Amino acid sequence: MDDDSHEHINHQWTDDHAEQFVKRMEGQLQSRYEPFAKEIAKIYLEYRISENPKIMDLACGPAFLLMEIHKRIPNASFLGVDASKKMIKYAQQKLEEYSVQGIEFKQGKAESIPLEDNSYSIITCFNSFHDFKEPKKALSEVHRVLEKNGIFILKDKNPSYPKWKMKIYFYFLRFKMGKQRAKHYYQSSHHWISPQRMENWMRELNFQVKFKSKGVDYIVVGQK
Ligand SMILES: C[S@@+](CC[C@H](N)C(=O)[O-])C[C@H]1O[C@@H](n2cnc3c(N)ncnc32)[C@H](O)[C@@H]1O
Repeated sequence: MDDDSHEHINHQWTDDHAEQFVKRMEGQLQSRYEPFAKEIAKIYLEYRISENPKIMDLACGPAFLLMEIHKRIPNASFLGVDASKKMIKYAQQKLEEYSVQGIEFKQGKAESIPLEDNSYSIITCFNSFHDFKEPKKALSEVHRVLEKNGIFILKDKNPSYPKWKMKIYFYFLRFKMGKQRAKHYYQSSHHWISPQRMENWMRELNFQVKFKSKGVDYIVVGQK
């Protein structure tokens, strides 16, 4: 399947769902957010983005990724955009708890980002793109909001990861997060966006595309 249709499961980011997500992820600051933030800081240097970049994290959730990037690119200005008002409240709470300053938030949807054209140097998105109802539209919004030569750094789940390796990974998840969550993870896999499909969409929008990794997740950089 390589057309533009995208089978979508609406996860309904309800308030309860948001609360559980924040609790679960807070225990994974070092194992999950720190490594990706390090990779982002490396990519920032590689692409020679300006000294004071404007960074926006799309579907920022509780802002754990932003907090980790903030430590590594301190001269930047930061904005988190998320569709859920409740999630933004959690993000603001977490910034207070961790005494982090200088990160702003805006409520808005990826499919119609509430920001001006050509206004951001770096847009990141972690583990969320497959959740968007209209991911291709979201990608064109990312392109619109990026300034010329600006970069989009996306990390998302990889449905093209070999099935036998995926099975081993699911056993690991069962052990790590319990049967129920691993099952949910497995069931959601059919609506993940393959790296090939993402690359096609990016090229259609005139992004320069470079993959950084393709494992159980993939990291891709799209430059405008
Ligand atoms: C799995 S969480 C990931 C949050 C964050 N990126 C992280 O890794 O901690 C998905 C997030 O996407 C947000 N979201 C879902 N659909 C969205 C949309 N169409 N536009 C913007 N945010 C959306 C949810 O509110 C939620 O915070």
